Parts: sequence; structure tokens; C-alpha cells
Amino acid sequence: MNNNLNTPITFACGKTMKNRFMLSPLTNKQSHEDGSLSDIEFNWLTKRAEGQFGLVMTCATSVQANGKCWSGQLGIYDDKHLPGHQRLVQKIQAYGSLAVTQLHHGGMRSDEALTGEKPVGPSDNEAKNMRGLSLAEVEKLRDDFIAAAVRAQKAGYDGVEVHGAHGYMLTQFISKKINQRTDQYGGSLENRSRLLFEIVQGIREACGKAFLLGVRLSPERFGMELQEIKTISQQLIDSELVDFLDLSLWDVFKPSEVNDQSLMTYLVEALDRKAVKLTVAGKVRNGKAVQSVMDAGIDFVTIGTAAILHHDFPVKVINDPDFQTIQTPVTVEYLQNEGLGQPLIEYLQDRWTDFVAS
Ligand SMILES: Cc1cc2nc3c(=O)[nH]c(=O)nc-3n(C[C@H](O)[C@H](O)[C@H](O)COP(=O)(O)O)c2cc1C
Repeated sequence: MNNNLNTPITFACGKTMKNRFMLSPLTNKQSHEDGSLSDIEFNWLTKRAEGQFGLVMTCATSVQANGKCWSGQLGIYDDKHLPGHQRLVQKIQAYGSLAVTQLHHGGMRSDEALTGEKPVGPSDNEAKNMRGLSLAEVEKLRDDFIAAAVRAQKAGYDGVEVHGAHGYMLTQFISKKINQRTDQYGGSLENRSRLLFEIVQGIREACGKAFLLGVRLSPERFGMELQEIKTISQQLIDSELVDFLDLSLWDVFKPSEVNDQSLMTYLVEALDRKAVKLTVAGKVRNGKAVQSVMDAGIDFVTIGTAAILHHDFPVKVINDPDFQTIQTPVTVEYLQNEGLGQPLIEYLQDRWTDFVAS
């Protein structure tokens, strides 16, 4: 029995997560084309709450219609989306889990075929087919992130996570390569991260102290620099505006570029966490890996692939510290039994050659 994984954790906002397992945000392409929740996506997510994830996070959810990256992406940019979210939240919370939605804008990675407009981002870039936002549009984007959080609160969500990772809009602003603005949103790190901080501050002001607020950051790729992400992480902590940081590392055990420690250990030691909880994601796929992450001083684990394969991964690991995730490829029938709908199964088939048996 892994008792330390089954202990609750209370965030600075006062909300308590019943154990140490968060469901990673996972794009599943299972919503209706207008961004409203479908029964398939409802089943996929609520089954993870039934499987005892203490915090169930939605996929990247659009805060503006023109930020959509995938067909079947969930939306939260309009009140028409509210009923689906309300239904989802009620069921997740009925299992005793916290319900959180990930707020996202794709920026230059938005899909023109879906949005009907040229992708927007920090600055004009013909090679990347990106139109730079005007100052008024940046302010509108900030306000729409905040409005989406207010809508999430209205739907009953315990909180939101701001998607500041993986090369989407907020990372495009942070990147000194991609962001060529010359106003207060470009140039210095302070300016490039201004949009993120204004969003976080605006959400805290609009949603109040008792609302759970997290930020996802990734320290590498897409123009991100480890030292800059470390600085932003520490500033978020020092601001006392956020409850948790979700560091997306893709492989928590990989060596850092700075010393011979793992990236995870480097970040744990580099950050003075104060009241902010820290989670990491990336290849945490069996009982031993979960325990290593906890032993490294992380507050709770974030599980992606293993949660696709086992809706009840927390139960499995809490009951068996040596639990091993099933070998892939797995059959379509296996995934259907785990609550995946056809769009997600097809997405996984496209993404990985050896995940779904042909
Ligand atoms: C199918 C799939 C969809 C994903 N969708 C998102 C997403 O919507 N938002 C996000 O921040 N990360 C997304 N990720 C990244 C995961 O949240 C996670 O960080 C990553 O898969 C590493 O964790 P893992 O090794 O446990 O899968 C996705 C990953 C996969 C495999």
C-alpha cells in the first residue's frame, strides 16, 4: 500500500485534493465542432474521476474561437458551452475529485481550416503564417482568458489551469525568437511574460481567493529557455497569485542541461516554493516512477499516457507500489473499455505507431 499517495493535500486557496494524482490535460478531439461537450468526452473524463484521480483536468479548452487547434476541441469562450461544463463538473465532483479546466489559445498553431482565419500571435511572421495581434487585441485576449475563467467558475469548476506551455499562444509571447513586438508585450522577459502575469492576476481578482489557480509551463523547446522559465516560475510563486505550478517536462527523469541532476530535481532545488504546490508531468507510468517523483519532493504527480491506458491508475498504484502499466500496443476494444471514444482512438493511432494494435 502506497499510503503517502493516498493522503490529501490542501492548496493555498483552501481547496483539498483527496490524493496525489492529477489527470494531465489530454486533448481528445471528442467535443462537438461548436466546442460544446459531447457524451463521449463526458464519459472519458468522468471515468477518470471514477478511477480516483484526485484532480481531473480537461483538455486544452479554447478561450477564443480563433485559438482552436484541433477538430473536436472543447470550448469555453461562449455561454453556450456552459451546460456541458456544468454537467461534467457535477459528475467529477460527485466522485470526490476536483474539477479543473485548462485554458488555451493556440496562437500561430491554431488551425486556419477550423477557424477560417489566419492564425494570430505576438508578431507578424509570414514564414509561420502568423498575423501579429494589435495592442487592443492583446488586451482582448487577456480579457477573454479571464472571462473564460469566470465562466469556468460559473460552471462550478474548482479552478483553472492557464496553459503556458508547449508552444501555444502564451509560450509564443514568452519566446524571444517568436515574439518580435516592440511595445510593453515584447522585448525584455518582463515584457514577454506580461500577458501571462496579467491573465493570472486578472483571474485571481475576478474569481477570488478561494478559486484554484494553476499554471502549466514547459522549460524546453518552442523557444523556451530553462533559466527564463525558472525565473517566471519563481515570480509566479512570489506573486502569491497561484496555487500550483504544473511543469511539463515530457520526461521527468531526463538529465537537465545545467548539471548532472534530473530536470525535475534541478527544478525542485532551484525553486523556493513557499505556499505553491508543484507537480510535474512526463513519463510517470508505473508505481515506482510515481514514488520516485514523490521522493524527489514533488507534491503530486500528473499522469497522461498511463491514465489513457488505465482510467483507475491511482487505485492501481495506491494498492500496488510495483504496479506496471499494460504493455502497448493495446487493442481498440481495450481502449473502448477504458472509456475512449473513436476520435481519441484515431488521434492516438495517428500520433503513435505502436500504441494501438492494428
Ligand atoms: C494524446 C495527448 C494529448 C495531450 N493534450 C494536451 C493538452 O491538451 N494540454 C497539455 O497541456 N498537454 C497535453 N498533452 C501532454 C500531456 O498532458 C503530458 O504532459 C504528456 O503526455 C507527458 O505525460 P505522460 O508521459 O504521462 O503522457 C497531451 C499528451 C497526449 C499524449
